Amino acid sequence: MNIAASGGPALALEVASAESIAELRHQAEGCTRCDLYRNATQIVFGEGPGKAEIVLVGEQPGDREDLTGRPFVGPAGNLFDRCLEEAGLDRQRCYVTNAVKHFKFTPRGKRRLHAKPNAGEIRRCAWWLGAEIDILQPKLVVALGATALYALLGPKAKLTLQRGHILYPANHPPVLVTIHPSYLLRIRDEEDRHRQRRDFVSDLHRAAEFRPR
Ligand code: URA
Repeated sequence: MNIAASGGPALALEVASAESIAELRHQAEGCTRCDLYRNATQIVFGEGPGKAEIVLVGEQPGDREDLTGRPFVGPAGNLFDRCLEEAGLDRQRCYVTNAVKHFKFTPRGKRRLHAKPNAGEIRRCAWWLGAEIDILQPKLVVALGATALYALLGPKAKLTLQRGHILYPANHPPVLVTIHPSYLLRIRDEEDRHRQRRDFVSDLHRAAEFRPR
């Protein structure tokens, strides 16, 4: 399927073809499109209602997500849940997914440390993300952080410049750009952390209130 026709992410020249998210998930279970499947426990596919109007896109599963097979259930997910609640955005009514669907990590003793997916891995996985968006046809997609933004809109989109904005790419649902919740976990300065959290909740509130033009 062609990107212009499919309305998929800018990085996906082609996307998977399926009638439903359940069918797509089934296809993705055997994914070997990049090497990340080799060390991950399982694929962590998106989840949420088939009629979801808002799609929330993170970066990639973390350790907890890899073990449970569900997106955003670890520390970043817990914080994300609290911010969603404060913003009045019901997670149960959203489709929650990731740009990359296998956990990428570096082993350090008994721990598995998050490693950033590279451009090739993100591009390969846009095959799935594009199909998820194609099937759901949401009214809004929320890019949580730079990897999601890159997967959705390609290298020209910049988180620092576009954060808090809603972009209207051709042949694609509108994209609200915001930070990744794990960024909040890394900010040491308390004042800065509070400010960033408040802005994040405000971005999510905008998503909750969003009405298509
Ligand atoms: N971070 C993500 O981007 N996705 C998850 O599912 C968990 C943490």
